[in-house]
Amino acid sequence: MVKVKETIFVCNNCGNEFTKWTGQCFGCGEWNSLKEVKNLKTGKNRKKLGAGRREVKVINLGSAKKNGGESSQLFSTGISEFDRVLGKGIVRGSVMLFSGEPGVGKSTLLTQVLGKVGGLYVTGEESLEQIRLRVRRLGLDEKKFDILVSNSLDEIERVMERVKNVYKIVVVDSIQVLMSDGTGGVPGSMSQLRDCTFRLVGLAKRKGSAVFIVGHVTKEGNIAGPKLLEHMVDVVLHFEGEKNGELRILRAIKNRFGSSEEVGVFKMGEKGLRQVRGDEVNLVSGVEEAAGRTVTVVMEGSRPMMVEIQALVTESFAPMPKRGFVGVDYNRGQMLVAVAQKCLGLPLYKSDVFVSVMGGIKVTDTGADLAVIGAIYTSYKNKVLPAKSVLVGEVSLVGEVRKVRLMERREREIKGLGRRVFRIRNIKELKRI
Ligand code: TYD
Ligand code: MG
Repeated sequence: MVKVKETIFVCNNCGNEFTKWTGQCFGCGEWNSLKEVKNLKTGKNRKKLGAGRREVKVINLGSAKKNGGESSQLFSTGISEFDRVLGKGIVRGSVMLFSGEPGVGKSTLLTQVLGKVGGLYVTGEESLEQIRLRVRRLGLDEKKFDILVSNSLDEIERVMERVKNVYKIVVVDSIQVLMSDGTGGVPGSMSQLRDCTFRLVGLAKRKGSAVFIVGHVTKEGNIAGPKLLEHMVDVVLHFEGEKNGELRILRAIKNRFGSSEEVGVFKMGEKGLRQVRGDEVNLVSGVEEAAGRTVTVVMEGSRPMMVEIQALVTESFAPMPKRGFVGVDYNRGQMLVAVAQKCLGLPLYKSDVFVSVMGGIKVTDTGADLAVIGAIYTSYKNKVLPAKSVLVGEVSLVGEVRKVRLMERREREIKGLGRRVFRIRNIKELKRI
């Protein structure tokens, strides 16, 4: 009989498993990355983990005991903007990945949710005192918070299994510093991220606690390392905004329980995040017309948002002209520059072009295309659009301006703010101004 080894060697870098230690990993070529860990596949270790003991059951849906209907499976975050992004609220036993750049306000918002609902806050990044200070600063009830300062998944598991009254919410801040025993790799490595998330999903389902997993993202917007985690969780939330600005937008990138269309809008202030009602989201009041500046209305879910777009077009002295886009998708931006070059006859092949959406929000609505082209055109020509005009429309590859969804809703917003739609059918008509 082949003897199964009690320990194996796992690469910190790629997660490959080996029976023998080597100086260099055969999987990825990294040096000195193999670490000895318990082999979970052997009988003894499996038993310790309680695997293989569970009774296997298949349940017929019709005969299954009802859980008291859908409504009892749902509860509110206590913050209506947050509920709206989730659909109607938090689903019991669900796992939500809460991502965003460092400093955007992830810990703050989740602390505010716990302040309303109460629950367990696991922190591997901050001290008890830091959490206490934040809770006080936000004016929340300290009794609502059970704090576990730990970065060990095994400890979290022990705490969650121990408690008689299930925590409605458990916040794990953050997944990048979490360690699961028996898994190879340093915290934040692929194997750790995967195993920790997998175990948290299991815990959430078993205990019925809703778990928020905080994950930092890199500038490019990937949840550091693992796109992989997105498949494992029920909901992926992304919190965005400019650190120096006050506006923050919460989006659901994935939502197993509802639409992933709606956004929540907040402002960061002295006392944490404040909800912003629909009609308050006007990022451009008082903006005067200038060359290189346009205004548009984008739809974020069912709510219109007026935003300002700026462009700077200058003669390029670099062998490859520069392109920079902030808040506009890079490929979409490149395409719009090309359309402007061809249809408006602008020599952008020898110009540096920079486009930026003000207020730190990312525009995904193609209704902003025309405003991007308008900004580029007026910057190049040093011209100004008629006062109070708003550019709305998707631009096709041949320069036609297409209608966009929910135009009536946008027009109402534009009128309400005392502005007018600058109506054109083809971007060539920009030359009239
Ligand atoms: P934080 O929630 O720690 O960000 P993250 O967890 O995403 O890294 O918040 C970071 C910033 O928010 C920090 O610069 C301080 C600021 N802040 C406020 O402006 N007001 C507040 O009430 C709080 C708690 C934080
Ligand atoms: Mg934080």
